Amino acid sequence: MTKSIPYARQWIHEEDIRAVVRTLDSSFLTTGPEIEKFEARLCQLTGAGHAIACTNGTAALHLACLALEISAPDLGLTSPISFLASANCIEYCGGKTDFIDINPLTLCMDPEKLEAYCLSNQPPRLVIPVDFAGMPADLPAIRSLAQRFGFAVIEDAAHAIGSTYTFEGRTYACGSCAHSDLAIFSFHPAKTVTAGEGGAILTNDDDLAFRLKTLRNHGMVKNRELNEEHGPWYYEMETPGFNYRITDIQCALGVSQLSRIDEFRARRQEIARLYNKAFKDDDRLILPPQELGKTACPHLYPIQFRGGSSVRKKVYQGLAAENIFCQVHYIPIHFQPYYAKKYGYTKKKCYQAETYYSRCLSLPLFPALKDEEVQTVIDKLSALI
Ligand SMILES: Cc1ncc(COP(=O)(O)O)c(C=O)c1O
Repeated sequence: MTKSIPYARQWIHEEDIRAVVRTLDSSFLTTGPEIEKFEARLCQLTGAGHAIACTNGTAALHLACLALEISAPDLGLTSPISFLASANCIEYCGGKTDFIDINPLTLCMDPEKLEAYCLSNQPPRLVIPVDFAGMPADLPAIRSLAQRFGFAVIEDAAHAIGSTYTFEGRTYACGSCAHSDLAIFSFHPAKTVTAGEGGAILTNDDDLAFRLKTLRNHGMVKNRELNEEHGPWYYEMETPGFNYRITDIQCALGVSQLSRIDEFRARRQEIARLYNKAFKDDDRLILPPQELGKTACPHLYPIQFRGGSSVRKKVYQGLAAENIFCQVHYIPIHFQPYYAKKYGYTKKKCYQAETYYSRCLSLPLFPALKDEEVQTVIDKLSALI
């Protein structure tokens, strides 16, 4: 029997453990220097002007929507092929959520469908493109629609730390906010860089950054003018915020992990290329976007079976019986009873997303996966189809 292979797993080194232990021995477990260090490293990596670290990617999306002052009856649009949080953040703020179908070649929001939606519906206040599997969404095209139709853009880059894209001869990091107002990362253990749990919002806008930092910490504002008038203890709250603070313990792990991001990306790309090479001539399969083995840092390796859902189920169950645990990313969000009941969204709303969902499977992909294990997955999958 094969040793258990999950679809994703963190890669923790000795130096990660030492960094966490050093922080446990230090004066600050939270609100200390490791948080600022982590935020500075995220700015360095992406080129964004500000990074605000917080409890998780979901909190990051919530804070981003709050900072943009999303509220009823604002309309927010996202991709149906994403984790629930990409849509739920709009609902948290009282907004109305709708979904734009994916481009089957990129598996990300299709800008042409977004344009058609903006021309024939109420224009959105917010669009949240998702860099699915690590593949950058077409951010420059979405940015130009944002300028034309007047909506804000939050790049959900939870899958895409370490990915880059090129536009007009220049290379940009996912999360740079070169073509968005805000971007978010998640540091869940399944992601490329982990902090145990964790998230961050990036922006180049000073006002948004100030609002995000305030909302992360209950909405409390302390400044020199107020302190001079009242005393050094003084704080004020104009808008109730949240306790979405991350700890120094988590950020110490995040800083240490970030220092190996090039290694993480190289190994993830290598594994994606091994799968590509093995499956490229198999016409029973549709491979993920090829950029995943090139400029993007692959978070997932989603293949599709031309044979449809019955083949997918057989492969999923057959591999699980061999201790190889794949995953399905994702059930289209508009299928969820909450969205279906609230908005009357029906199946056949997003044809490409639904077709993709009916036959997709994410194969194991994480840096500590050995070549022999990749080969085992390839052999067993090939035997099952
Ligand atoms: C695309 C996407 N957005 C947001 C999130 C939320 O991140 P977190 O799990 O850190 O709350 C996830 C997490 O799985 C995700 O995959």
